[in-house]
Amino acid sequence: MPIPAALLWRRVRHGRRLAPVRRHLPATLAAAGAVAAQRGRGRLAAGLLAGAAVGFAAQYRRGRARGLADTAEHVRRMRRLRPDVLRHFYVTCIGSMEAELEEYPAYDRRKHDLRYRRVIRAALRHTPPGGTVVDVGCASAMVLDSLHAARGTRGVGFDLAPYGLHQRGHRPDPPVLAQAIVEEIPLGDGVADVVVFSEVIEHLIDAYVGLREVSRVMRPGGVMVLTTNNGSEMPVVSPLVDPGMWVERLLGRWRPRLLGFRNITWHAPINAEADPLPADAPTYAPHFHFAFAELRDLAADAGFELLAEGSFEFPAPQSPLAERLRRLSERRPWLGNLLSDGLELAVAATPGLNLMGTHHELVFRKVGEPLAEPRVPWWPAALVSAAAGESAPRRAAA
Ligand SMILES: C[S@@+](CC[C@H](N)C(=O)[O-])C[C@H]1O[C@@H](n2cnc3c(N)ncnc32)[C@H](O)[C@@H]1O
Repeated sequence: MPIPAALLWRRVRHGRRLAPVRRHLPATLAAAGAVAAQRGRGRLAAGLLAGAAVGFAAQYRRGRARGLADTAEHVRRMRRLRPDVLRHFYVTCIGSMEAELEEYPAYDRRKHDLRYRRVIRAALRHTPPGGTVVDVGCASAMVLDSLHAARGTRGVGFDLAPYGLHQRGHRPDPPVLAQAIVEEIPLGDGVADVVVFSEVIEHLIDAYVGLREVSRVMRPGGVMVLTTNNGSEMPVVSPLVDPGMWVERLLGRWRPRLLGFRNITWHAPINAEADPLPADAPTYAPHFHFAFAELRDLAADAGFELLAEGSFEFPAPQSPLAERLRRLSERRPWLGNLLSDGLELAVAATPGLNLMGTHHELVFRKVGEPLAEPRVPWWPAALVSAAAGESAPRRAAA
């Protein structure tokens, strides 16, 4: 029986099986347009390329609208965040880093090791023999052990969550570890040669307060190795489907206002038993993905100059490609490792893409005294202060 035209059209537009075809239609039109142009079919080429442009624009508009809606939800979560609840959650619910790593799939553990290796390499480049290294939000301070083994450094580490600190008894030369917060580092001024600040700043309500404290405890000329989530991380959507989103992310590195989606909080709420808020509007811990320019400018206000910038971890961990590599690494570890390391190297060598890793790796030198407040108020912190009033962490006078 012939399918009526209307039904056929509905299937083409909405049918699930045809979704991949629909998604790749603009790219197909663009490819056909390029071929037509090459063959000298100017009018056909123009028509096909115009169709591709319209399709890409529609795709981008939809993706951006979704991103803006998600950002609005993250803003709502930050507005109801209570700093005392957040602190209670970290102190009572965060287990040790080692225990967390054991639960990771092999693929993610390998990416985690990659980060440690990079952080240690960057720190070693600037650590004098026997110097003092402070690991801010150190968990169980594994980085300090490696630095001590290589340079005989004196390690000082602290973390808000107590469990990691007590995790490992047998250490070559135990660093000094304490339970403390980045916002009030229990150290005197100018004591650190190097500060390791790895995957912590995104958890703070006020990133500037953390940077200002780190700057205070560093000696002039000291170096901070900072890694954290990248707001310009490569999108999960393929560049063949939505190239506009890839361009937005890359340009957002220097112009954060271009970014439609801002990741401000963790994707899941904190443990219910630590949360006094109602189940239908629970607490989400901050987990900010910074644009490069935001970090550069906040760090400059805190007295730092940028020495090196880069990013790592490709592809985005939530992407379909990462999921495939994850599964492959379980079945055939050697092949999974080979492909994921190869991809990491290939992207790191590709200009533009190499800035779109999941994490920033930034190295700063302390060149001046921190300002009491950043020149441009740090907007995610303002969201919390507005709602939490007196219970928001006070900005210490510089
Ligand atoms: C993702 S883990 C990273 C741990 C460690 N830096 C590493 O590289 O493995 C984040 C750590 O930051 C700590 N943290 C969160 N907020 C903090 C704060 N305000 N002061 C100190 N540590 C904090 C958490 O307890 C957790 O151990």
